[in-house]
Amino acid sequence: MDHSSKVLEATAANLAHCAELLRGDEVVGMPTETVYGLAGNALNEVSVRKIFAVKGRPLLDPLIVHFSDLAAAEAHIETNDSVRQLAAAFWPGPLTMIVPKQASIPDLVTAGLPSVAIRVPQHPVFRTILERLDFPLAAPSANPFGYVSPTRASHVAHTLGSRIQAVLDGGACDFGLESTIVDLRNPQVPVILRHGPITQAQINQILQVEVTAHSGASNDTAPQSAPGLLTKHYSPRARVTLLAHGETLTADAALDPGIAVVCNQQPTWHTDQPNIFWLSETGELNEIAHNLFELIQRLDQQDYQQLCIEQAAEEGLGQAINDRLRRAAAKLKAE
Ligand code: TXA
Ligand code: MG
Repeated sequence: MDHSSKVLEATAANLAHCAELLRGDEVVGMPTETVYGLAGNALNEVSVRKIFAVKGRPLLDPLIVHFSDLAAAEAHIETNDSVRQLAAAFWPGPLTMIVPKQASIPDLVTAGLPSVAIRVPQHPVFRTILERLDFPLAAPSANPFGYVSPTRASHVAHTLGSRIQAVLDGGACDFGLESTIVDLRNPQVPVILRHGPITQAQINQILQVEVTAHSGASNDTAPQSAPGLLTKHYSPRARVTLLAHGETLTADAALDPGIAVVCNQQPTWHTDQPNIFWLSETGELNEIAHNLFELIQRLDQQDYQQLCIEQAAEEGLGQAINDRLRRAAAKLKAE
C-alpha cells in the first residue's frame, strides 16, 4: 500500500498539527540532520511504548532523548565538564552523549540503565517542534528494527507508513549517518560507542584526552553493557557483501544482473552497465555518507538479490561508514 499521503510538508499548519499529535502521546516521523527519527514524548511511557511497538524494537535497546538545548537537558541528567565542553563545540549537531540520568527520565527509555543518551539536534524542523513542546523527544531512527536508517521522508512512509499518522518532510538528511555516540558516564575515560559524523579526532581535540572506541564486540542476546551495538543491523533485504576500499573491480563483477555493485566513485572501466552505482563524483567521505543509505534503500526496492559494496577509506568519517557497512553485511549465528 502507498502511504505517501502520510508525508507532510513542513508548513506552519502541519508543524502545529504534529506538535498536537505529540502532546496527545502519538509518535511522528521527523527529520534530523543525521537520519529521520521516530519521535514521541520522552517523559511519557505511553508514547515511549508506541515508539518501541512501531519499530518492533526490543525493550532492552534504549532510546536517545532530544532536547532543545543543553540547559533543557541538564534538568534531567547529572552533568559534568566534558558534557559542557562537547556541547559547546558540537551542539546543536550530530553528537549523542551518554550520562547518568535523573529520575524524571522513565526507566523504559533507558532499558533500565541508570544512564541516558542525550542529543540536541540541528535540523530546523526538529528544532521548531521541540521549541513548541514543554517536554523532550525520544527518537530512534525511524526504520523497522534492524533495517537501514531512513534519510528521506519517503523512506519512513514506505516502511512505517501503515503504523504512524504522519512524517514531517525536511528533505534529504545532510549527514545521512546516525550521530556519533560518546559515553561520558566516567568523564575521565570517554568512550566512543558508535562512530558517526563527529570524528574521534574532533572529540580528542576538545577533551584533550585520547578517546577510545568501543571494540564493537557484543553479545547479541544478553542485555547489553553498551546496547545498540548489535552485530547485525542496518541490513537491507538483499544480501550485502563488501569489497575492500580500492579493491580492483573488473567489468566481470557487472556480469550478474542480480548483483548491484556500489563503488565509492565511478570505476574506470564503467561504460553502460546498468547495475554499477557510485556514491560520489569526487570520492569525498561526506558525500559518500550522505548518499549511502539512500542508495541502499533505492536498490533494495528493486530486484537485486545482492549488493556488493566497496568500503570507504578507514579514516575520519570512513570509520562510521565502514562500521555501518560491516553490520549490514553481518550474519546472525542462526542464518
Ligand atoms: O542520529 C541519531 O542518533 C538518530 C537521530 C534520530 O537522532 N537516532 C538514532 O537512534 O540513531 P537509535 O535508537 O537508532 O540509535 C541509538 C543508539 C542505540 O544503539 C542505543 O542502544 C544507544 O544509542 N543507546 C541509547 N541509550 C543508551 C544508553 N543509555 N547507553 C548506551 N547506549 C545507548
Ligand atoms: Mg537505529
